Amino acid sequence: MEDLREKYIAAIADAADESALEDLRVQALGKKGEISLQMRELGRMTPEERQVEGPRLNALKDEINSALGARRTALADAALDARLKDEWLDVTLPARDRRTGTIHPISQVWEEVTAIFADMGFAVAEGPQVEEDWYNFDALNIPAHHPARAEMDTFYMHRAEDENRPPHVLRTHTSPVQIRSMQAQGAPIRIIAPGRVYRSDYDQTHTPMFHQVEGLAIDRDLSMANLKWCLEEFFSAYFGTRVKTRFRASHFPFTEPSAEVDIQCSFEGGTVKVGEGDGWLEVLGSGMVHPKVLSAAGVDPAEWQGFAFGMGIDRIAMLKYGIPDLRAFFDSDLRWLRHYGFGALQVPTLRGGV
Ligand code: PHE
Repeated sequence: MEDLREKYIAAIADAADESALEDLRVQALGKKGEISLQMRELGRMTPEERQVEGPRLNALKDEINSALGARRTALADAALDARLKDEWLDVTLPARDRRTGTIHPISQVWEEVTAIFADMGFAVAEGPQVEEDWYNFDALNIPAHHPARAEMDTFYMHRAEDENRPPHVLRTHTSPVQIRSMQAQGAPIRIIAPGRVYRSDYDQTHTPMFHQVEGLAIDRDLSMANLKWCLEEFFSAYFGTRVKTRFRASHFPFTEPSAEVDIQCSFEGGTVKVGEGDGWLEVLGSGMVHPKVLSAAGVDPAEWQGFAFGMGIDRIAMLKYGIPDLRAFFDSDLRWLRHYGFGALQVPTLRGGV
């Protein structure tokens, strides 16, 4: 029995893993295990012998069982130690340098414009970029064969010969959103509609896709004076300094009267400075919404009137952030984006300098 004891205790201490331990358990204590067989021998002994051998065998059995348990625990502990060592993480190391993207100047300005007009009570409206020609032209008092249709260098969507849906264009301005918004909510209304617009034109100051923000305010007694106040308030907040505007008589089919609006600036030393000097820079088209436009959108011109404007977002972004070439906005040049881009937490200015 002493031999058995030594053999198993040594083997258990040496067992390399769980399955080796299990083999040893079966060998010793399984149905046909060496200890179990000895147990069976007890039946053949005299009662006196049994009284001595029985407890000894039981004690051995207990000893082997607890040796198995202890070894199992030791193996599990070792495995855990190895894993902890293996998966050790030095949380005090500095983080890896990871390039984060920047907010594109257009997105930044889009947000700034939205925030400033929201502050003046304008909600944001949207319309489709692939637009029915009725919304882009007819409803805005630009009938077929009107020169404005040709002037706009419109992209027309392809139409099959037997196509019976109305013709669609890539919208040439954000003005169709005026119609859609009035149709949807009637008057009074006060919205801006920032978005992408398309014209077939490409040089240093024109790209085939660019951005506009439309403004529309309709109520019972709005006038050009409200328009002028609104725009001066906007430009002053946007540029962070008092900005004067100059209204020049102009013509748009969808406004009457119409005005092109310039902002005050100086051109000294080859750079443009907004809000000072005696130069002027054109930034938008505007006017009182034409009665025919109100009617087309289901608003009674006998009861309602108001103003609208359309401003180039890219244009005012270039002016505020000193960006010289419009085309760079859409080149996706990483060096340019890192230079002119904004951090995610740079929040728009709301009332600076006003
Ligand atoms: N839609 C005009 C354009 O794109 C701008 C404009 C909008 C003019 C609203 C007057 C009123 O040129």
